[in-house]
This record gives sequence, structure tokens and C-alpha cells, in this order.
Amino acid sequence: MSAADRDSVERSIKHCYSTWGTSYYADYYGADAPYPPVHLDLVSRLVAERDVKRLLDAGCGPASMLRHLVAPGRDIYGFDLTPEMVVEARRVLAEQGVPADHVWEGSVAVRADFVAPTGNADYDCVLCSGVMPHIAETTETDIIANIRDALQPGGHAIVEARNELFSMFTLNRYSHEFFLKQLLPVDELRRQAGDEGDGMNAALAQVERMFRTDVPPIRQGKDDEPGYDEVLSRTHNPLLLQQKFLATGFTNVQLYYYHFHCLPPVVSGHAPRLFREISLQMEANPKDWRGLFMASAFFVVAQRA
Ligand SMILES: C[S@@+](CC[C@H](N)C(=O)[O-])C[C@H]1O[C@@H](n2cnc3c(N)ncnc32)[C@H](O)[C@@H]1O
Repeated sequence: MSAADRDSVERSIKHCYSTWGTSYYADYYGADAPYPPVHLDLVSRLVAERDVKRLLDAGCGPASMLRHLVAPGRDIYGFDLTPEMVVEARRVLAEQGVPADHVWEGSVAVRADFVAPTGNADYDCVLCSGVMPHIAETTETDIIANIRDALQPGGHAIVEARNELFSMFTLNRYSHEFFLKQLLPVDELRRQAGDEGDGMNAALAQVERMFRTDVPPIRQGKDDEPGYDEVLSRTHNPLLLQQKFLATGFTNVQLYYYHFHCLPPVVSGHAPRLFREISLQMEANPKDWRGLFMASAFFVVAQRA
């Protein structure tokens, strides 16, 4: 991806998040959030288990996670692409005694941006949550390498992504797109269809009818800014992302799933209480293999060799 293309993607992402600085935390972590912040519990556990002393949150937003990770004997740092997020993160963390220069503006695409203005680097943990969806496939390996290089040997990366394979469970527009883009060799079928061209088209049309392709609606912005689905917002195949970490010099690369759905979202409205309760119960085991299909997001937890 050229510098100009990256700049254009980053500009639209900044614009998308510019109105979220002060409301993001309440929307996704607050008491009125549609679902409890189970990912925060998971990250807090992962960080506590690793006895982290110097933590960087790359793409920290309004310090939504960092504000919960402040602990005695632990230095915390964060940077974000969106200026409004940086302002809010500084404000919130200042109340907890974190110096303003521990939070700065930067992009995960720029290796130098992982170094704090104070000159600090060599973290023993780099957290990166909610950012990978906004990274183009062509620069993804560079981002993983930047995270690796910011870590001390033996340090841990905790990187979140949205689960592409969840589309095998949603039975909606995403499932249909996944069939067409990732599973069915449509071009090959068309090329070799011969006298079965009509049959081939009928088969594809029938596959389409098996999914609710009218849902979900496209998420739009609040004001004039583009919405989450209108900027680059990718999903990742957990198995392929795991391989990328292994190929980039990480060991002990593990997958932790969250945001389990005990029913496909398209039918969950029939029994909303039950849906919520049983889904929450499933969160208790983030290593449950069913997360590969039934969880909408996951963390890659990996150790720098
Ligand atoms: C979904 S929010 C997540 C915020 C926080 N990490 C969390 O998990 O609650 C995504 C954040 O990533 C930031 N972001 C997107 N692309 C980025 C990039 N290339 N470098 C750094 N931050 C980025 C956005 O500005 C936004 O604050």
C-alpha cells in the first residue's frame, strides 16, 4: 500500500472515530453497554497472569482498557491515531496519576510511533485491541513486525481481531459473502460450466436464498462522519492470523475467543434473555473450539521469541 493510500485510509478512520472520544467508553464498557465488556475481563486476566511491568496499548482509544490496567509497579503507555481519543485518554489517565507524555498520537503502521515521547520502549506487553480491522491486508505483516520489535524478547503481544469465520454461523449477508469470496470457486465453476451454465446460476441463486442477505444493516456515522462499516473494517480468519504471528517471529501463539453467540444473531431476538445468559456462560472458556465459529472476536496472544 502506498503512503498516499495509507494516509487516505487513516484520514477516514480518524474522521470515523472523531465523534467517539467522550462516548466510546460509555457505549462499549459502561453500565448501559448492550453487552458486558467481557474482553476487558479477559485482557485484565491475561495481563495479570504475565506480571506485566511496562505495558503499551497501541490504538488505546479513550484509554478504555488502559484505565483498568493501571497498577502499582506497572508503567503504562498508549498511543492512538485519533486526536480526540488521545485527549480523552490523557484526561482519564491523569486522574490516575499517569503523566500526559505517556499518551501520544501515532499509527501502528509507523515503527517509531511505538516509542514514547519520553524515549521509553522495550515493553514487556503490547496490547492492540480494535485496530486490526482498520489495517489493510498488504500492511498487516508490517504491523505485526512493529509490535514484535516494540517488545523485549519474551514479551507478550495481545492483539484483537474480528472473527471472519463467525460468518459461518450468522446465516446472513456475511455468510453469503464468505461463501462467494472464500469458499466457492465461482470463477472456475463459471469457466467450466459448459452446458450447465443455467444450472450453475440456479445453484448460486439457491445458495443466496439460504441466507438472510437483507441483514445486518450497514452501520452509519452519527453526524457527517463515515460509520464503522463505511471505513476499512476487516475481519480475520483466526487460523491465518495465528500463522502470520508464527511467521513473524512469535512463539506460543494462542487464540482466545470472546463475544460468543449461543444462537445465530438473526434468530436471537426470539429469546433475548436466554441468548444473553447462555452466551455469557460460554465466555467462561475463551479456548472453547466452538469460538472459531460462534464468537465474533478473538485475541491472538503470542510471545516474542
Ligand atoms: C474500536 S476502537 C478501540 C479502542 C480501544 N483499543 C479499545 O479496545 O477499547 C479503535 C481505535 O483504534 C484507533 N486506530 C485505528 N487505526 C489506527 C492506527 N493505524 N494506529 C493507531 N490507532 C488506530 C482508532 O482511532 C480507535 O481509537
